[in-house]
Amino acid sequence: MLHLTLRQLQVFAAVARLLSFSRAARELHLSQPAVSMQIRLLEDSVGLPLFEQLGKKIFLTEAGREMYVCSQSIATQLRDTEAAFVQMKGLDRGELRIAVASTANYFTTRLLSRFCQAHPQVVVHLDVTNRAELLQLLEQNQLDLAVMGQPPEGHDLQATSFMENPLVVIAPPNHALAQQRDISVAQLAQHTLILREAGSGTRSATERFLQAHALKPSGGLVMNTNEAIKQAVQAQMGLAVVSLHTVQLEVQAGHLAVLDVQGFPLLRHWFVVHRNQKRLTVAAQAFKQYLLAEGQQLGVSA
Ligand code: PGA
Repeated sequence: MLHLTLRQLQVFAAVARLLSFSRAARELHLSQPAVSMQIRLLEDSVGLPLFEQLGKKIFLTEAGREMYVCSQSIATQLRDTEAAFVQMKGLDRGELRIAVASTANYFTTRLLSRFCQAHPQVVVHLDVTNRAELLQLLEQNQLDLAVMGQPPEGHDLQATSFMENPLVVIAPPNHALAQQRDISVAQLAQHTLILREAGSGTRSATERFLQAHALKPSGGLVMNTNEAIKQAVQAQMGLAVVSLHTVQLEVQAGHLAVLDVQGFPLLRHWFVVHRNQKRLTVAAQAFKQYLLAEGQQLGVSA
């Protein structure tokens, strides 16, 4: 491996282009001995002369021509890299790695679509998964941002709440409880409750609620997507606790009913989350600000 410095290459490239030590020294604002010294050091590490003097003129040797090609290509690469850094500082380019809790996907896709229209050059990678996996992805520093329920303490995360997440009990519209008001938790407990998978934020909120009322979920029916749960509830397999964000269309269309159960809606919040020391890219900062601003708007319409 050659031991040379970028400064030596820069001095060499100027001498090679101008074929003059004195003109190169003027261009680089150096003294002529300083230029000669850099070239000598470079020749020492190459082990071959890079210039030869014939009369008053200097010429590149074969090794010098080779070194000139090398110095040009390194200079081009540095210029390209610098241009890429300049672009990364702006929103012209850049990547956004986000992951959202599957429940949050019902509104983040809409938000993301408007963000992408405003910043078409930003490449977006979106992962949709449950809360437990989101925490793992954050831990492994694989994300710029996550959208999820409040993260637990002790994970070295910065979490900012941007929207309410009301959890409601859903039933088929013709269910016996659908017309009742002020349903007690004991009444609810008499029915099969379809649960999300372990690791889901919706599930842990549901379990906390039941525990607080000294109840245990009936168990037996566990599904890992909100879509599967909605279908199962429509098919009379049981009741379920889901985020209101996931059932708006079905409720409007009369395919599902929201039950009036005491203590509901359980009020959770959506958070935009990143590692504490994470240096957010310009794209990630812009998306975070956008979420904080748009979240309120969307929450109102929800
Ligand atoms: P989910 O919801 O993990 O149940 O999809 C997210 C959350 O409430 O944290």
